[in-house]
Amino acid sequence: MKEKYREEINKIYNALYNSDISFYYLDEYNFEEEVVDPFKEKYKGSFSWDSGATKGVLIFKQFDFVIKIPYTTCDGDDLVGAIVKNDDDCWNYCQAELERYERACQLGIQDAFAEIDELFDLPNGFPAYIQKFCDTCAYSYSVNQDYIEEVSITNSKNSYSLLDELWENTLYTEKGKDFFCKVKEFIKTEDINDLRRSNIGYLKGQPVLIDYAGFDY
Ligand SMILES: Nc1ncnc2c1ncn2[C@@H]1O[C@H](COP(=O)(O)OP(=O)(O)O)[C@@H](O)[C@H]1O
Ligand SMILES: [Mg+2]
Repeated sequence: MKEKYREEINKIYNALYNSDISFYYLDEYNFEEEVVDPFKEKYKGSFSWDSGATKGVLIFKQFDFVIKIPYTTCDGDDLVGAIVKNDDDCWNYCQAELERYERACQLGIQDAFAEIDELFDLPNGFPAYIQKFCDTCAYSYSVNQDYIEEVSITNSKNSYSLLDELWENTLYTEKGKDFFCKVKEFIKTEDINDLRRSNIGYLKGQPVLIDYAGFDY
């Protein structure tokens, strides 16, 4: 994925490094001001952005990828962030996604996950990640079809699960019951607990999870 977009990635990298972005303490409330606005000043191309509770996302739809930036936090005066876990305050949700993607690959179910890869280090020393661009289900309507209740991911033990039934249905029909059940099992064993419409989507028409880091309450 990285090689295909190398030229654009270099431009993005330069824009990030030539801007006044401090990247110090990033969260959902300052991502726009700290990253998006200064980046906009330097980057000549078009992009959009989004941010959830754990990552900021720069979206380059025309190039079919997004860049995910894990939020950081401070431990006293020290900036902390880019590890999967050391204490409650420093989950790197992007790294958590990457490690899950690798385990999904080992099980042969990676097609249900938007591919993610480490990209480059940001000026704060923590990595940014690249992921395939997907259409999210956030604003789609759930179609109440006659899909198979007993295998539904929605019915699996998920703390707040509001999956799109059409999405599940498509995964089931396109990939078959075995694949579907493996994905469902993976979601359970990995405790991917925050599946809702803004965290799932379609990649070239195929249903994929786009935020499978879960949420560490
Ligand atoms: N691969 C992607 N393609 C398109 N949009 C994405 C992608 N990944 C994330 N987004 C957008 O960014 C939002 C936040 O990203 P997400 O990975 O869900 O982070 P968070 O853990 O903060 O919720 C998503 O809800 C979605 O709208
Ligand atoms: Mg999310």
